[in-house]
Amino acid sequence: MSANDPADAAIRARSIARYRSRAAGYDATCGPTWSIRERAIAALALRAGDCVLDVGCGTGLSLPLLRAAVGDEGQVYGFDQSPEMLAQARARVAAAGWSNVTVYECAAQGLRLPAPVDALLFHYTHDILRSPAALGALLTQARPGAWVSIAGIKYFTGPLALANWWVYMKNRGYNGAPGELRTPWDRIAPHLTDWQWQPTQYGMGYLASGRLRVEAAG
Ligand SMILES: C[S@@+](CC[C@H](N)C(=O)[O-])C[C@H]1O[C@@H](n2cnc3c(N)ncnc32)[C@H](O)[C@@H]1O
Repeated sequence: MSANDPADAAIRARSIARYRSRAAGYDATCGPTWSIRERAIAALALRAGDCVLDVGCGTGLSLPLLRAAVGDEGQVYGFDQSPEMLAQARARVAAAGWSNVTVYECAAQGLRLPAPVDALLFHYTHDILRSPAALGALLTQARPGAWVSIAGIKYFTGPLALANWWVYMKNRGYNGAPGELRTPWDRIAPHLTDWQWQPTQYGMGYLASGRLRVEAAG
């Protein structure tokens, strides 16, 4: 799939439309997954001075945690294609007065950072994880061995699988390509070493991490 693939563009357009109406109330919906956010960020093993990318940063809820982890000498980048979500992230950065946090309004498929990052956070970014063009662009923005941490939604297994229609509908509200929830990590996992994942939320969520393989990095 190329960076200009029409299917990818249609998925992006659906997502942008969803977040146009969802952005204002987005933060109020994130309370129940706050501990997952904290665990996903902890898995990045950030140190003072590191450079980290918040993939699909949305309203910037992870930015304060990432900024605290890398300190004054570090660098935090974030990007999002939704103007309404990114405007909130920008306001958050301006209100905090951070000089080492930069957010861009752009698609994952077209992101170009000034320097390779040490870590990538994918927190509830299903559309991006399912887009080969987006992953191709993002993984070349990180150094070999960079930590990658992923949290998101997936289908239940076992008896709870009866509720997967509900999981699909829930995901649909937030994504342009809501399906492929059995193993949503299976396009990024082959690019990582030290891969591990665990279920969250009784199996309708997951937390995964690994380190970027040399051949996938920029
Ligand atoms: C569920 S929100 C998660 C936001 C943030 N990561 C968080 O944890 O609060 C998904 C975000 O991904 C963004 N997004 C989806 N596809 C994208 C793409 N191709 N490029 C950039 N951003 C994208 C959406 O605009 C939305 O803000």
